[in-house]
This record gives sequence, structure tokens and C-alpha cells, in this order.
Amino acid sequence: MTWLELKVRGLREEAAGILGIELCSLDATPLPFAWTAGAHVDVQLGGGLVRQYSLTNLPDEGCLRLAIKHAEDSRGGSRWLHQQLRVGTRLKVGAPRNLFPLHPGNTPVLLVAAGIGITPLLAMYRQCKVQQRPVRLLYFARSPAHAAFVDELQDDSAVTLLSGISAVQIAAQLRSLLPPWQAEQQLYTCGPDGFMQCVLAVATELGWPAAALHQEHFQPANEPAANQASGLELVLARSGKAVVVQAGESLVSAAARVGVTIATSCGMGMCGACMTRVLDGVPEHRDQYLSDAERNSGKWLMPCVSGCSGSRLELDV
Ligand code: FES
Repeated sequence: MTWLELKVRGLREEAAGILGIELCSLDATPLPFAWTAGAHVDVQLGGGLVRQYSLTNLPDEGCLRLAIKHAEDSRGGSRWLHQQLRVGTRLKVGAPRNLFPLHPGNTPVLLVAAGIGITPLLAMYRQCKVQQRPVRLLYFARSPAHAAFVDELQDDSAVTLLSGISAVQIAAQLRSLLPPWQAEQQLYTCGPDGFMQCVLAVATELGWPAAALHQEHFQPANEPAANQASGLELVLARSGKAVVVQAGESLVSAAARVGVTIATSCGMGMCGACMTRVLDGVPEHRDQYLSDAERNSGKWLMPCVSGCSGSRLELDV
């Protein structure tokens, strides 16, 4: 991955525990990339951490905007950002990538966000507005103080802000708010996994087809492959080495035991940094990065989480 050094131009408390970050180029020149709503960037943090964060804005502003929730169970990323960032701090950022794009066209869009799941959906909301595309946003927050971007959203008739709703009330709220499916309408949801499952279940009850329902996970949706318990032989073609993968071990870790480094970033099958060509064997995919076409081709695999359904796997590393 190619990294670009950017600096923090602004910091702002978007809501309780949510830090808004504005990043621009070091010399105020235009950013060398564009993106569409739903895109995210990889950000290098202190201590070798790399994390992925959704972009809340569109390229016309000439900067990247992120909003980071200080997660109580943080693996280090959000805590570091909240504690260490100052205006002027430099950060290395990868080019934006979009695994959660809006369907092209001008068909109606329904966005359903909870908590920090507002971040990719805010960019989608803005993109629809710019394109004069019909859009509605339902935004659930724990309390009014936890709702981000309210200055922009609170007086907009296309936005419904909901706060203080308990988990058991969410399904009933959704049943009263989600419309029955109309042809070509698309629904995008982002938030905690339980929330998204509830959104998809209620939408399905209301006749929404699976092809019209889209979700983005902040955490991996799948467990890493566990099939290595069967004694998978991993052949590393370029380095001429082979290793037997141990039970519960990732392909990346097994390769490291014989001195072969496979570059990784998220370690969760979400970022694409470890994408590796398969030379032989049948991949067992556990990532959320590959497209259906890449997955079905059998030629690519994300070795940080994926495995093999056979007894031998040969990779181009
Ligand atoms: S390291 Fe991110 S997908 Fe494997």
C-alpha cells in the first residue's frame, strides 16, 4: 500500500466521545485522489497500528474528514487518536477505497444508521443531496448528546433523529419507520451488528429483497478459518518454503514461522493489505474485502483470516 503523509488541520468534538478530524496535505495542495461516498481510508497510528475509518465528506472540500468514537473496548486505535492528536500532527493515510458504494443512478435511497455507523452514511446522504437523489436518513443515537453532526441534520425534513431508544424498542420503531419496498429502492445500514441484523430482519418482513439491502461492518463478520486443524500444508512458492499450519493458526502466522513475511494491516480480512494470489488449492474465504468475482475465481485469498478447504494450499509469496 502507498502511504501519503497528511496533517491534522482541525479537530472538533462532534458529539460525546466522537472526535471529528480534518486532514489536509502538508503544503495545502489538492489531495492526489478522489473518492465516492462509503469509502474508507487506512490510517497508521502509533505503535504500528493501522486502522480503517470511513470518510464522512466528499472530495470537493479538498480534505479528508473522519469521525472517531472513543471505544471503551478500544484495541488501541481510537484511544490513541483521542489522546495524541493535535492540530498539526502528521498522519500517514492510504488512498481511499470503497467497499460500500451507493448503487449508481438516481433511484431512492434509505439510510439507517446507529451510533458511529453514521460516518459512511453521512457521506452517502451528502452525495445524494448533491446529486438531487431522493434520500431519507434514520439515525439512532444513544442520547441527544451522542448524536453527531446534528447541526447539519436536525432541521432537515429528510432526516429522522432518534435517541434514547432501548435495544428492545428498536424493532418496533423500525417497523413504524421503514417503508415497504418500492421498485429499485436501496437500503444501506451501518451500526452495531445486532442493530444491522434487526434492520435487515424488519426490512425483509416489509418485502425488501436481499439484493436491495446493504450493510457495512466495523468489526469482522466472520470467524477466521479454523480448518487448519486438519494439518494443512502451506507452500510458499516464491520463497521455496513449506510449512504445516497449526490448529487455530492463521496462514500469515504459519508463513512467518518459516521466515516469510506477508504484509498485513488490519489482520481482520477487511483492508486488503494481505491480498495474495493462490497458485493451487481451494480457498476458504473468511474476509470482507474480495469481490464476489475475485472470490469465485479461486485465484485470490486474504491469508490473515482465510484458509483452505483441502489439505494443500500454494500461495504466490
Ligand atoms: S491484513 Fe487486512 S485483509 Fe488481511
